[in-house]
Amino acid sequence: MAKKTDEFVCQNCGAAYKRWQGKCDACGEWNTISEESAATERMFSGPGRPPRKGKPFPLAPLAGEQKEAPRIASGNAEFDRVAGGGLVPGSVLLVGGDPGIGKSTLLIQIAGALAAAGHRAVYITGEESVAQVRLRAERLGLTRLPVELAAETSVEDIVATLSQGRVPRLVVIDSIQTMWTDMVESSPGTVTQVRASAQLLIRFAKRAGAAVILVGHVTKDGQIAGPRVVEHMVDAVLSFEGEGGHHFRILRAVKNRFGPTDEIGVFEMTGGGLSEVANPSALFLSERDLGAPGTAVFAGMEGTRPLLVEMQALVAPTSLGTPRRAVVGWDPSRLAMVLAVLEAHCGVKLGGYDVYLNVAGGLRIQEPAADLAAAAALVSSLAKTPLPADAVHFGEVSLSGAVRPVSHAPARLKEAQKLGFARAVVPDATRGAERDGLALAPVASLTDLVARIVPGRPAQRREARS
Ligand code: TYD
Ligand code: MG
Repeated sequence: MAKKTDEFVCQNCGAAYKRWQGKCDACGEWNTISEESAATERMFSGPGRPPRKGKPFPLAPLAGEQKEAPRIASGNAEFDRVAGGGLVPGSVLLVGGDPGIGKSTLLIQIAGALAAAGHRAVYITGEESVAQVRLRAERLGLTRLPVELAAETSVEDIVATLSQGRVPRLVVIDSIQTMWTDMVESSPGTVTQVRASAQLLIRFAKRAGAAVILVGHVTKDGQIAGPRVVEHMVDAVLSFEGEGGHHFRILRAVKNRFGPTDEIGVFEMTGGGLSEVANPSALFLSERDLGAPGTAVFAGMEGTRPLLVEMQALVAPTSLGTPRRAVVGWDPSRLAMVLAVLEAHCGVKLGGYDVYLNVAGGLRIQEPAADLAAAAALVSSLAKTPLPADAVHFGEVSLSGAVRPVSHAPARLKEAQKLGFARAVVPDATRGAERDGLALAPVASLTDLVARIVPGRPAQRREARS
């Protein structure tokens, strides 16, 4: 007789082990492994069930009649943009984000928007009571919309309910960690339960052709808790982000089988819920500290949309043995690289200085094109020389110190012109892309940039003499 085997599963990544250990070899996390019954595995492949003889199915060619997946636009332009143009019937989305960031608010608004357009939209909450959701809906002015609501956590019951009547266009499950199924024995929130519940809901979505949105919690280091495994199962993973003190919220596609992954949607949290921000550049630049050294405007791109943000740097003499390098909103290893290039090729010595770099407004920048703006902000702070307030920057810095061209230069310049900027510091290769009222200042290397900010001599030589 087969022995009942329990297994030890990492709650972070889902890796399974025969015995407990302190550190997960797969993801490197500590204290994430806990015991779960191996019920799912047994159910699908266990003893007692004779192996099923497979039956053949037809194989099809790549060329077919399929058209572009039909999409249901929710009417919320920022959400639709991130989802790749709307919800695809039969698809499953995972929306992750910190507690309190506004996931429930966003999704009840999306459900409301679809219901207003005459679609059947169902909102299932496992976290709050019906009364709590109603209170929120009242605050958002959605109570008159025919969204169907329930507080339920049993996946079997949910699937049975949803299978009755008209097929829902949208089902929101808030959240996947609170759901449980009879199929497995572990408690809700464990990897096994989350995985099995998600599997059932995904099967329902594909079978019925409903779009399902799962809400997933995020751990303190920004990963969607537990169900890393769920990320592989769903069609799209959207992450909802924002900084504590700011009202901006950014919805970002991390994975999308039906659309691009570099689009972002920008929202503002107001008293009446999340409102769409159609012109984010104006918002991100609205609190600029004009005339202060150490700030540079970066003309960035998020997907197909240009986005202007301010990069702020503070370079101050250190009192520590190892100077501090702290970054908010940008990649620390890119900062390290820009500092190394400034030091090696431009003679800007920063070894004795603490360096802080911050992207204003709580935005997180991933583009290498921000190198030039970061370097400009750093040199400006070190030299205590403000940069011209009407200038934007973009360009990638290579290890040789050269400033390399980046994609979408015309779109970046157009956005800068639209927002009233008069000049753009750009890679040499972008020369000739002037627009009315926007002059270009091409720089071939970081040395050129340093010379522009501190005319005549690079910053460090002046320091050395004084
Ligand atoms: P919520 O959607 O409950 O967050 P999540 O589901 O991600 O945990 O959002 C809760 C926060 O949003 C709460 O701190 C209050 C704020 N909020 C507003 O500022 N305005 C509103 O209209 C609503 C509904 C919430
Ligand atoms: Mg919530």
